[in-house]
Amino acid sequence: MHNMNSFPPAGIAVVIGASGGLGSALFRPLARSSRFGQVVGLSRSAGSIDLTNEQSIATAAAAIKAIDMPLRLVLVATGLLHDDQLQPEKSWRHLDADRLARSFAVNATGPALIAKHFLPLLPREGKAVFAAISAKVGSIGDNHLGGWYGYRAAKAALNQLIHTAAIELQRTRPDAFCVTLHPGTVATPLSAPFTASGHDPVTAEFAAARLLGVIDNLRAADNGRMLDHTGQPLPW
Ligand SMILES: NC(=O)c1ccc[n+]([C@@H]2O[C@H](COP(=O)([O-])OP(=O)(O)OC[C@H]3O[C@@H](n4cnc5c(N)ncnc54)[C@H](OP(=O)(O)O)[C@@H]3O)[C@@H](O)[C@H]2O)c1
Repeated sequence: MHNMNSFPPAGIAVVIGASGGLGSALFRPLARSSRFGQVVGLSRSAGSIDLTNEQSIATAAAAIKAIDMPLRLVLVATGLLHDDQLQPEKSWRHLDADRLARSFAVNATGPALIAKHFLPLLPREGKAVFAAISAKVGSIGDNHLGGWYGYRAAKAALNQLIHTAAIELQRTRPDAFCVTLHPGTVATPLSAPFTASGHDPVTAEFAAARLLGVIDNLRAADNGRMLDHTGQPLPW
């Protein structure tokens, strides 16, 4: 695990979606590291945050603000690709307004509302990072296969929302970063139905360690970018 020594010591790190495959794998090494004074995991299943309920996001942010330490790291590891009512669309024939709206609510609007309530808590000086997990399939320039309309479009929207917030953040917090990250294909419940053939998934622990390395090594030019798990910028 990266030592995260690029961050000033004794700050707060928050993982949103700490119940998920990737979220729990991000939370555990952060909680073990001595760099942060407090590491907080929030999730819908633990009853501490629901991305479709802005009040729950505001309440969670107020609880973080009440801790007497600067907020240095916010990781948004939530996301929705499929559940019993939603499957990624293989064709335009499967497009459905309610399902598209649900995908947008969890994958784009929810993280944007987290940015709304958590970015103002970042300190004005010293390194701080807001990173939302996106996906390379959200890249329009890299879309050669088609399919997965709603998830792709919601992740593209997430990238634009976070890029826009990064520009605003820079004005008041020049040392802070706001980025989206592509974790690679990771063995989690989200990817499980789709990894039988082709992409060999990496473990969530391995993926999380790579992403923490990317976060520890961010450079000024990376603000606002979508970065892959090696730290390289991906095309929009
Ligand atoms: N796995 C991959 O191969 C892969 C590839 C590219 C990108 N990603 C991205 O990586 C991120 C993490 O995904 P994962 O693979 O770890 O999936 P996962 O294990 O299914 O975790 C998804 C997380 O999202 C949370 N969530 C879903 N709806 C929510 C809502 N309305 N409010 C609050 N939390 C909600 C879940 O919370 P509860 O369990 O508490 O309900 C869970 O913690 C996602 O953004 C995903 O798009 C994953």
